[in-house]
Amino acid sequence: MGIENRVALVTGSASGMGKQTALRMAENGAKIVINDVVPERVEKTVAEFKEAGFEVIGEVADVSNKEAVEKMVKSAVDAFGGIDILVNNAGLEKAGILRKLSEEDWDITINVNLKGAFLCSQAVHHYMVEKNHGRIINIASRAWLGGVGQAPYSSAKAGMVGLTRTLGLELGRKGVTVNCIAPGLIHTPLWDKAPEKLKKRLLSKQPTGKLGEVDDIANAVMFFSDDDTEFVTGQVLYVCGGRSLFAG
Ligand SMILES: NC(=O)c1ccc[n+]([C@@H]2O[C@H](COP(=O)([O-])OP(=O)(O)OC[C@H]3O[C@@H](n4cnc5c(N)ncnc54)[C@H](O)[C@@H]3O)[C@@H](O)[C@H]2O)c1
Repeated sequence: MGIENRVALVTGSASGMGKQTALRMAENGAKIVINDVVPERVEKTVAEFKEAGFEVIGEVADVSNKEAVEKMVKSAVDAFGGIDILVNNAGLEKAGILRKLSEEDWDITINVNLKGAFLCSQAVHHYMVEKNHGRIINIASRAWLGGVGQAPYSSAKAGMVGLTRTLGLELGRKGVTVNCIAPGLIHTPLWDKAPEKLKKRLLSKQPTGKLGEVDDIANAVMFFSDDDTEFVTGQVLYVCGGRSLFAG
């Protein structure tokens, strides 16, 4: 049971819920690959993890770039001998209603969230199949159900749900589970900076009346990563305080 001595690559893990997830994994005995596209953040996060005594390496790579992803995975395998857990967490959102969105907004949102998850899964799955053991966890969003001003983001996250279900089917007999987490409103620095009026409106739609914390996502990732969670694949787990229960 657990994830002790497993190797975990968490993309976009120099910030937010990815960083907290990587920390929880390290505390539970996993070897960690911190990835992010911002070099200073990777350096800082790796230094913090080392200071805490964890086994960690840092890889600066843009997950939407195939060559960079392959290089990152090779370095991680050279350092730790394989990759057992992949968390496709790197993401961003370019928001706007249809007439205001640019082609660039669409491309970058789809490329980082969806193509990134595809490229990283493709690059790591050989190592998982070799061992007949692997865990892929995709961080989508409740917004895959649809949201005003969220066409690229909702489409990318819906694509991640399709990717999860398909890879669950393809890799099921090879010891690799593939699952998806759909977070709702999570307490991050972005929230703290949001206008009070917007915060009030968003909170009024939360059935639980509150935000989630980054640890709520880390908890869900820990469940899907566990050696014992082998009979759960292709699933979407909403961690959104019940917000998925109604549309709009
Ligand atoms: N925060 C929320 O309320 C919320 C809700 C639903 C879903 N999500 C999803 O959860 C994930 C993490 O969100 P967060 O709030 O912790 O975000 P965050 O911005 O704090 O962290 C995301 C990290 O990804 C990195 N990143 C961006 N583009 C990258 C690329 N091309 N390659 C590698 N790294 C890249 C960023 O530099 C950043 O450090 C995202 O996929 C996001 O869409 C967040």
